[in-house]
Amino acid sequence: MSFLKVEDLNVYYGNIHAIKGVSLEVNKGEVVSLIGANGAGKTTTLQAISGLLPIKAGEITFNNNSILKQKAFKRTRLGIAQVPEGRRVFKGISVEDNLTLGGVSVNSTKEEDKIEMDKIYQLFPVLKERRKQEAGTLSGGEQQMLAMGRALMTRPQVLLLDEPSMGLSPLFVDKIFDTIALLKKDKTTILLVEQNANLALEVADRGYVLETGRIVKEGSAESLKSDPDVKAAYLGI
Ligand SMILES: Nc1ncnc2c1ncn2[C@@H]1O[C@H](COP(=O)(O)OP(=O)(O)OP(=O)(O)O)[C@@H](O)[C@H]1O
Ligand SMILES: [Mg+2]
Repeated sequence: MSFLKVEDLNVYYGNIHAIKGVSLEVNKGEVVSLIGANGAGKTTTLQAISGLLPIKAGEITFNNNSILKQKAFKRTRLGIAQVPEGRRVFKGISVEDNLTLGGVSVNSTKEEDKIEMDKIYQLFPVLKERRKQEAGTLSGGEQQMLAMGRALMTRPQVLLLDEPSMGLSPLFVDKIFDTIALLKKDKTTILLVEQNANLALEVADRGYVLETGRIVKEGSAESLKSDPDVKAAYLGI
C-alpha cells in the first residue's frame, strides 16, 4: 500500500514548464531525499504536494486517496506538514506562540498541544530556554528548529523538509541532521529536499535526483551514493 504518491506531476509558472512528469513515492516510516541543483524544481514539487501551488496534470495520493481537491490547510489536517525553504517563522511573536500556531492549524486541544510541545522542547532544548523570546531574535539555526517544531505541532504523518540546512553553520547543520535521524528512528516519514546531497543521502533510505523538472535517477541511498554520475554532479567526489 502506498502512502504518499506523486504520479506524472506537471507544474507550470505561466509558460515555464517547471515540473515535467515527476513521479515519486514515500512509504510509511521512510526518509526519502530529493536532491538536485538550484532551480531543478525541488521546492515546486513540495509546494504542489502541500497544496500551495496548482498543478497542471498528474495525481497526488495520500493513504491511497487523491488529495488534489483538498486545499493546503486540509492537507495539513490530513497529516502533510511542510517546513518551508527559508524557515518562515513568525518573527514578531514568541517562540511558544509560533509553536501554538502549529497546533491551531490542526484544531488540536490544549492537552494535545502541551504533550507535543513538551516533546519538541525535549528535541530542541534551546527552544524551551527561549520560549518567551520573539522568534525574529533567534539565530538561523534556531529558527530552523522552530520551523520544524511548528510543523511537528501538527502531529504530521509525513514531514516535507525544504533545505533545512541552507545557510547554517556546520554545527547547526549537524544538529538539524541529528534531529532528522532521531525523527527517523521514531518512524517519522520524511521527504527531504536538500542541496547538501552527501548529508541527504546519509540519512535517507531512498532518493531521487531531479534535473530541470525531471527525475533522472532513483534508488536506494546506498546505490545513489555509489553512482558515478551522482558522485560527480552532487557529491563532489
Ligand atoms: N514564482 C515563480 N515564477 C516563475 N518561475 C518560477 C517561480 N518559482 C520557481 N520558478 C522556476 O521554476 C523552476 C524550479 O524552481 P524551484 O524553486 O522549484 O527550484 P529548486 O530546486 O527548489 O531550487 P533551489 O535549490 O534554488 O531552491 C526554476 O526554473 C525557477 O526559476
Ligand atoms: Mg528550493
